[in-house]
Amino acid sequence: MDRSPTQITLRRPDDWHLHLRDGAMLAAVLPHSAHFARAIVMPNLVPPVVTAAQAAAYRDRILAALPAGQSFTPLMTLYLTEETDPDDVVQAHTDGIATAVKLYPAGATTNSASGVRDFDKVRIVLERMADIGMPLCVHGEVTDPDIDIFDREAVFIDRVLKPIRKWVPDLRIVMEHVTTQDAVDYVRDTHKNLAATITTHHLIINRNHILAGGIRPHYYCLPVAKRETHRIALVQAAVSGDKRFFLGTDSAPHTDANKLLPCGCAGCFSAPNTLSCLAEVFEAAGKLKELEAFVSLNGPRFYGLEPNEDKITLTKGDAVSYPGHIDTDVGPVTVFDPGFALHWRVDA
Ligand code: NCD
Ligand code: ZN
Repeated sequence: MDRSPTQITLRRPDDWHLHLRDGAMLAAVLPHSAHFARAIVMPNLVPPVVTAAQAAAYRDRILAALPAGQSFTPLMTLYLTEETDPDDVVQAHTDGIATAVKLYPAGATTNSASGVRDFDKVRIVLERMADIGMPLCVHGEVTDPDIDIFDREAVFIDRVLKPIRKWVPDLRIVMEHVTTQDAVDYVRDTHKNLAATITTHHLIINRNHILAGGIRPHYYCLPVAKRETHRIALVQAAVSGDKRFFLGTDSAPHTDANKLLPCGCAGCFSAPNTLSCLAEVFEAAGKLKELEAFVSLNGPRFYGLEPNEDKITLTKGDAVSYPGHIDTDVGPVTVFDPGFALHWRVDA
């Protein structure tokens, strides 16, 4: 007899790494994160969200774009630059304007030109953050052109993350969108002040999906998906229940026009079908019961917040339909295609 459940109820989830953009794109994508109660909102706008005042203004624009009836709390991040003022960061955290600071190594990804080159220049900011318990979210890739793109995360651990953790051991760090066995092992071996987010798409695709049998720009994101052994390590970490791993979708919308260029943008837009995708992944691993820890419990625990009180229910049935793309005033945005049918529907 098949005993696999056809319905599961979870605390309402949160997304611990989300790109909402601004203006017309913000208005179009925000409703697609409606199942999430809160999200850590990335600050890589153009220009980036660097100061407390900019974060407060961006938060207001997000709240103004919320459709009637959607309850959603944006948790703002400040984009760390070599000029970041430590007092402003501390004030932003104390005033409840910013939840975390985001470190992009300069040039690592979309809109990261203002990121950090010389880590000595941000040391005081990091020390002040450690003092007040404000987490640092890191895009964990080196940008040295001599380092192969598939090795950039593993090299970042040795060259950047380990030194930062040595200088400022009390700093709470989230290694974001991990893509390698190396990162999973490093987080597992670290018992204090370190956690990792994992995206939906990195649990589903490996580099063959991007490159074998034709190039598929909609699967291109950063960090780039690695070989299958790494994807399997990510799935094992996600379904393990280990409190150090939690969901950050890294849903990163770009118009199709910007994805399909000779030099196209990095990012997968997975907000519309993320929870259905995740239920399939956890079910296939025989670990549906761990889904709640990954999407609803481990994240708030690391951030020192309560899990959400309200609940959502996922029901398994006929294939769920979702749009292949969404329309925005700046052009269509393709929705992440997991490559298999989705059967788990999120009940409103
Ligand atoms: C993100 C974006 O488009 O802003 N792209 C991506 O591929 N993940 C930036 C990022 O998080 O690296
Ligand atoms: Zn991102």
